[in-house]
Amino acid sequence: MTKQDVRRFYDEKGWRPAGDAYIDSQRYVDMRPVVQAYMQRSYARAQAALAPAGRLFLDAGCGANPQMGFSSGYQYHVCVDFSVTGLREARRKLGARGLYVMADVTALPFAPGTFDAAVSAHVIYHIPGLESQRRAMQEVYRLVKPGRTGVILYANPYHARYCDLTWGGKGLVRQALCFLGDMVARLRGQPHWATDMSGEENRTEDGLFYKAYPPGWVRHLLPAGAMEIRCLRWLAQPFTSRRVQDTPNWRHFLRAVAWLEDRLPHLLAYGANYVLLVIRKDL
Ligand SMILES: C[S@@+](CC[C@H](N)C(=O)[O-])C[C@H]1O[C@@H](n2cnc3c(N)ncnc32)[C@H](O)[C@@H]1O
Repeated sequence: MTKQDVRRFYDEKGWRPAGDAYIDSQRYVDMRPVVQAYMQRSYARAQAALAPAGRLFLDAGCGANPQMGFSSGYQYHVCVDFSVTGLREARRKLGARGLYVMADVTALPFAPGTFDAAVSAHVIYHIPGLESQRRAMQEVYRLVKPGRTGVILYANPYHARYCDLTWGGKGLVRQALCFLGDMVARLRGQPHWATDMSGEENRTEDGLFYKAYPPGWVRHLLPAGAMEIRCLRWLAQPFTSRRVQDTPNWRHFLRAVAWLEDRLPHLLAYGANYVLLVIRKDL
């Protein structure tokens, strides 16, 4: 699986309109309002880590879905993607406030410290190869101004696969081992190599590549202290799609989970479906 396969997927399929959304969102996002309220809380958490206003806002891998809410206080929203279909859709939404650049997020054509804030949402785990993922993370770090932050929305392989809260035996054992391994590695001050470094590739039913490395390990790809790992969203889409109903009880449940995620972002990064990697560049 190569980058070009990922690009082809988004050009030819992922960003094709499907009803009110795109094939990509229709497949992988629970679009129902009851769940969207929970999702919005997670995006608000990511936005809160960024400066509220500035001149240039980088959206690395914006596709057809630029994070417009994040950049409302910015003069320009710089959209970068290698999918022309995605960029066209982004332009339709953002218009003249956007600047559109077709480029690979692992090697971006900007000078260091160009941006007041940066986001790369659900992009890097679609990049094949650890080395390329590392370069993409380093680009976010390189491109934000000193004293500013960037955020990466990343998947968590520690999440019990397709967590449905019934804790199927395999998922629980795997997660417990990952957790213990990470703890031991932390105590010894080492990156955690033991889990999920198998090189095993994952693909969605549509054939789209994804591969996330353990967050506790990924942290070591940037200079010490540059990356903080928080919970973005604990619950997974397969769980919400299968179980969550639009009833008051489920609405309370989702609000309670979001409340906990707000208050215990570091603890709940363990087991979260998606993590928020906050990248800080010192002055
Ligand atoms: C899952 S979509 C995410 C889109 C948007 N950021 C969001 O949050 O909905 C992944 C996007 O990353 C883009 N992408 C993946 N690898 C890339 C790379 N190496 N360079 C540039 N864009 C890339 C794809 O074209 C696609 O538009």
